[in-house]
Amino acid sequence: MTLILGMQVSDRDELGNVFLKMDERHHRFVLHPQGNNDIAYAGWEVKNEDELMAIASQLKAEGIEVERGTAANAQGRRVMGLIKLKDPSGIPTEVYYGPMLNYGNNFKSPREISGFVTGEMGIGHIVISADNFEKSLQFYKDLLGFRVTNLSGTPGEGFRMAFMHCNPRHHSLGIQMARVPSQGSGPYGLMPARRLQHVMIQAGNIDDVGSTNYLCLEKGVPFAKTFGRHGNDHMLSFYIWTPAGFGLEYGCGGRQVDDSTWIVTPPENDPWGHLQASPPVNSTYKLNYESKEKQFVSRRT
Ligand SMILES: [Fe+2]
Repeated sequence: MTLILGMQVSDRDELGNVFLKMDERHHRFVLHPQGNNDIAYAGWEVKNEDELMAIASQLKAEGIEVERGTAANAQGRRVMGLIKLKDPSGIPTEVYYGPMLNYGNNFKSPREISGFVTGEMGIGHIVISADNFEKSLQFYKDLLGFRVTNLSGTPGEGFRMAFMHCNPRHHSLGIQMARVPSQGSGPYGLMPARRLQHVMIQAGNIDDVGSTNYLCLEKGVPFAKTFGRHGNDHMLSFYIWTPAGFGLEYGCGGRQVDDSTWIVTPPENDPWGHLQASPPVNSTYKLNYESKEKQFVSRRT
């Protein structure tokens, strides 16, 4: 995650958890050695204790079981306070406020990339597979306050997918209907059975994405989708398989949503690229990669 993607290990704790840094925050991701190779929990941020309590009351009023995180829980997550609950598919979900910053310990990528687009838009996005699409859509919209960006299908009809936002990022959350939950099928036909279909991180510019793409080729990282442009969020990206087996989208240039003017539409088809890629891409290319990421030379064999 660090030498390929360019994140920085900021901390490790006695439980073997590894904290990954992408910006001024102490961390944006935590890798837990618990062994199920799936999302351990999703953390959604609110501004302060009052907002946290308001959301907890709202969830409880709707019959959702909410647990207040202990001081030890908060310390473990490096936040000031949190609540814990489960989404309708059983995905552990946390709402928190007061993330620890690392002033004076600014992000330093182990690679020569410009950095990541995070800030008020968070880590990027996650796409999850929901047992009951309508219930999950209602949960994230009406109880957690997400707004729909794009929506495909109609209730009871066709494949359902929602792209939802909670800040200017086009989507921080994608929910897809699990057509065969036990096998984890979905729009990415090769995806294994996991709640987390993919996570997207947004790099600063096209050179970051291009150099990472070539590094993946050189290192034999398996691709899930080739380079392409998304029709909905306009992200210029490619997809790889992480060692844990879920997808990771690495992109740049995603567009933002202005809630005062945004109208909900179906997601558009991609104008080009994002072809299912798995092993053939790596096996048909050989790369002469100069380690300083400045010279990109590839040839087909
Ligand atoms: Fe994505």
